[in-house]
Amino acid sequence: MAESLRPRILVVGFDAALNDAFSDVFTDQVEVIRKDYDKKILSQEMEPAPQVVICGPFAQGYKATEIARALRGLYSSLPIFHLCTAREGFDRVALKSSGFTDAFLLPIDRHDCRQVILETLSRLSHGQIRAYRQIHLIDLQPGEILDFDTAIYMPANYKYVQVGRAGEEFDQTRFKKFIERGQSTLYVPSDQIHQFYHYASTRLRMLTQTQRREQLGQAVRGLLNGLIFEGTDGDSASQKNHLNEQVIEECEEIVRGYIRQSQNATWYERVAQVVNDAGDKELDQYTHSGNVSTLATLFSIGLGVGRPEELACAGLLHDLGLEDLPQQVRSLEPEAMNREQFRIYATHPELSCMRIKATRLGVPESVLTIIFQHHELFNGQGYPNGLSADQIRPEAQILSLADRFDEMTRVRRGQFRLMPKDALAKLSQMHYDPRLIRKLIELFGVETTEEGGQQLNPLKSVS
Ligand SMILES: [Fe+2]
Ligand SMILES: [Fe+2]
Repeated sequence: MAESLRPRILVVGFDAALNDAFSDVFTDQVEVIRKDYDKKILSQEMEPAPQVVICGPFAQGYKATEIARALRGLYSSLPIFHLCTAREGFDRVALKSSGFTDAFLLPIDRHDCRQVILETLSRLSHGQIRAYRQIHLIDLQPGEILDFDTAIYMPANYKYVQVGRAGEEFDQTRFKKFIERGQSTLYVPSDQIHQFYHYASTRLRMLTQTQRREQLGQAVRGLLNGLIFEGTDGDSASQKNHLNEQVIEECEEIVRGYIRQSQNATWYERVAQVVNDAGDKELDQYTHSGNVSTLATLFSIGLGVGRPEELACAGLLHDLGLEDLPQQVRSLEPEAMNREQFRIYATHPELSCMRIKATRLGVPESVLTIIFQHHELFNGQGYPNGLSADQIRPEAQILSLADRFDEMTRVRRGQFRLMPKDALAKLSQMHYDPRLIRKLIELFGVETTEEGGQQLNPLKSVS
């Protein structure tokens, strides 16, 4: 490989165990300069300059945020990552605002961290070092020409083996073989992932337009399968967390592509822009809105309930009103609130609607109604108006299901979460329209066993 394509990484404060864990990332395709924490490394720019800085756990006497500021002062535009091994005091938002590009808590975030570093190296080496993203076999249609490469992963030697080339047809026989072998995932090079997103969203749109409900159900189920698929027993919790985060990101891209192809969704574009601009301010809430929007849209497409564009928009905006609540109330979980605090909290759907109206984004009235009702419950015990059964719009129930599902399963960096299968089982015992719940369980491809438990059947089809 040409010298200029060998990314130069400055690695600070790595111990033997960390070096070992990254041995297949730090290959001879990269130039690694290892240093310990000392005054010099934090006050003097290194010669020749690195292209990436990766900071290991901090040595005694150094504060993470101070190190972030010092390094950012030296290397203003470089990616600087922090890998932390002590859960106590780990605050990703604070670390990022001090200057780190991103921060990871190991071992929980191990896979996420490797992916981010590999993708950075891939960019710096102009694709010489390849990073891959996982996709689901079921998202591909055999017989179609794909404009991205596909690969399978060989865990025994950490290698990706190419199985399909961009510009070639995705072979029917090969597809069948994968299915027979129980192989449900493939990999696409990270630098071609947008071609894949475009392909998947166009396919989804095409299926909606041609009213091929069975195939459409199957396509949506394919996307949702990624969420319910919990890896094999050998996967660590960190791997499962990571898979989930990537799947929701993948779905988000596909859903956005899908909505963009709809003719009357110009207001959605404006809304997405406004939410994007407000992003990062409150990372968790921002991620939540994006996830709810994605899930609600997929539920809407898959169940044939409501207009997907409206649910996409309602998902992005549903909790906007939380920002108008007093800080004291916002900082509490609803279960921990006293009666008065909860009364104030329960005004947030209305506050969301008021804020949206004030922005004059041209959001349709129907979207406002969906948002207004997103905490109403089928048994009449919800808020703000205690509506019940058919008084609640089915779209509001869809939004509420997506909201709850994300609350239960969302990965907050450095934390574990509820597995999607368990979340779905929990939802089915909550106060939703039983007809909707039944359809949702079918959509996820979850079967009820004789013992009353639930089993997964990822490739099962429903009409
Ligand atoms: Fe809410
Ligand atoms: Fe919410």
